[in-house]
Amino acid sequence: MISENHKIQKFTDEAALSRAAAETIVKHLNDSLRIRDVYSIVLSGGSTPRRLYALLANDAVFRDRIPWDRVHFFWGDERHVSPDHPDSNYGMADAALLSKIPLPSTNIHRIRAEDSDAGKAAVDYEQEIRRFFKIDAGQMPRFNCVLLGMGSDGHTASLFPETAALEETDHLVVANWVEKFQSYRITMTVPVFNNAERIIFLVSGKEKANTLKSVLARQRESDPYPVQRIRPEHGHLIWLIDATAASHLS
Ligand code: 6PG
Repeated sequence: MISENHKIQKFTDEAALSRAAAETIVKHLNDSLRIRDVYSIVLSGGSTPRRLYALLANDAVFRDRIPWDRVHFFWGDERHVSPDHPDSNYGMADAALLSKIPLPSTNIHRIRAEDSDAGKAAVDYEQEIRRFFKIDAGQMPRFNCVLLGMGSDGHTASLFPETAALEETDHLVVANWVEKFQSYRITMTVPVFNNAERIIFLVSGKEKANTLKSVLARQRESDPYPVQRIRPEHGHLIWLIDATAASHLS
């Protein structure tokens, strides 16, 4: 445990990590729904969360404990592709989870990344988030739970090193040009993540071990990895990591 609201939990493998993530979400979701009507969760893309999504959809231990009609799904970022494209984060979550649960379509708030204008897709998504939270310009949404991953370069969502979106403080969502992909990504910004009630990082894979060691040791404070900027101001941050990702931790 790093601090009261900042924890690390290590698991033998991705399967155990995914089960713990499912249990953490189901518990937080039900505790939350005791005091409010709906629960807002921000999904992550990439490959690591796929197993978690499949567990929530297929394992009755988790699926049957969730009042799906009271859960609203958002995305932390999206590739600039259509929802049926193999790289689509929405597409992955739909195949693994959303298409398998009794969820009203109005509870799915996806990024319309099929729009050829990535900037417009970002503006539209910001407006959708403001509508859902009934907030005006200058106000920040407070998501109940945000799932995030980490790349070996220390990126999270589509906040990549040395990209413009890292410095964004006004907008909730931006189109972020990523040189190495020669493409835009549509991503929520650091202030949105840092206003969340709970952030859960899912990190698996030995290629991330070095970066994870630096991040958790709070090295590079002067030139932080993007992931190091994620520090919820009034919320909890949990790192769920597997043995391969933790292989350089003492
Ligand atoms: C994306 C994600 C990205 C992801 C990391 C880790 O759109 O790709 O939002 O930030 O979480 O790249 O990806 P893996 O889980 O595939 O290692």
